[in-house]
Amino acid sequence: MTIYRARVLDTPDDPFAGGTLRAEDDCSLVVLDGAVVARGALADVRHHDPEGLVIDLRDGWLLPGLVDTHVHYPQVRVIGALGMPLLEWLDRCALPEEQRLASDDYARLVAQEFCASLVAAGTTTALVFGSHFAGAVDQLFEEAARYGLRVTSGLVVSDRGLPEPLLTTPERAHAEAVALASRWHGVGHARYAITPRFSFSASEAVLEACAGAAEEIGDAWFTSHVNENAAEVAEVARLFPSAAHYVGTYDDHGLLGPRSVLAHDVHATDAELDVLAGRRTSVAHCPSSNAALGSGLFPLARHVDGGVAVALGSDVGAGTGFSLFKEGLQAYFMQRLLADAGLPLTPAHLLHLATSAGARALGLGDRVGDLSVGKQFDAICLRPVRGTELDIGLRHTEVPEEALGKIFALASDADVADVWVGGQQIASGGFIRGHAQS
Ligand code: GUN
Ligand code: ZN
Repeated sequence: MTIYRARVLDTPDDPFAGGTLRAEDDCSLVVLDGAVVARGALADVRHHDPEGLVIDLRDGWLLPGLVDTHVHYPQVRVIGALGMPLLEWLDRCALPEEQRLASDDYARLVAQEFCASLVAAGTTTALVFGSHFAGAVDQLFEEAARYGLRVTSGLVVSDRGLPEPLLTTPERAHAEAVALASRWHGVGHARYAITPRFSFSASEAVLEACAGAAEEIGDAWFTSHVNENAAEVAEVARLFPSAAHYVGTYDDHGLLGPRSVLAHDVHATDAELDVLAGRRTSVAHCPSSNAALGSGLFPLARHVDGGVAVALGSDVGAGTGFSLFKEGLQAYFMQRLLADAGLPLTPAHLLHLATSAGARALGLGDRVGDLSVGKQFDAICLRPVRGTELDIGLRHTEVPEEALGKIFALASDADVADVWVGGQQIASGGFIRGHAQS
């Protein structure tokens, strides 16, 4: 048993539904077997462990571990290629790099870089877009397991429209997904996600194979892209003449439900929002990617009003880094730019989008996303680098909402000092430990 004493910020009550930031200046969390078993003033919880160690983190800020609902593992080395729209960026930057993951040795190094980058950014749970190569997906799951990261991922499948080495067949897509899921789904914190890249690169037959694999696995997750870029949307309409819309290309194969997360949805129609809400499918909003590729301004208010759950994704490598603080700030900027059509976001909204909303989108809302009693101790401690604007700003505010605003405006990976997953510490003082639970 360990007691952590800290300033704690979290959002157990959804600010989009009237909740507010929960901020406690001096809060002690009693952690047993990876879970928070008591929470309150030290004097009130000390009886759980009268002699035990109290880890004093009051020089920092304790937040829930961050949740990234859309991030591409094979793209960690291509972050920062600016100036292109989606389809050109895929051709020139992402897809050449993704072909290199045909080599397991190359993929192992990329998986190491990717998982270390997640930890450095304070991301403890992620829905990860995998690789087109099954061996590379094994490398990702193996590396994530070394840290105990809560990773949901799978084999990316396409059978048209991409360079030939990235293509598969419906039969192979089905067989490899089922084989990977049998190795990883439900093992430790790993879960399997059926992952057609996007309908632009998928035939009806490969989407049907995805549905077949999902049925065989039983409770797999599903993820893909939707409505990201105008040229992509137009091509999908041409390729799927009988689908009502882009969302329909997935829905027609029974791929959408509460365990589905679609990235982007920048160009959503009302009819598509109705389908997503009806299926209880979530959307991963990836603001830095949308801005970097010039994809468009995300209609958050229409999603919220339409009852579609939204969380945040970094979309590395079109996104410009792993930090969900940066994504939160970009989401805030984007809503400002939408003026009257935008949804004004407070710091509490940003923390919710980066933690509890993501946990709920990934069906983990009962385990992670905030630091209530009963939740896993997935947490990060921010300790700003001395003398930086964040350090100065946080030392000169007494108001928790203001402090959180400064964190989203100014925090970077360098400020993420300690990281825990399920009570296991995987980064300490900014140094990543690398080995955790089985
Ligand atoms: N659509 C299909 N593949 C990708 C990708 O790798 N990144 C983004 N942003 N959109 C995609
Ligand atoms: Zn993506």
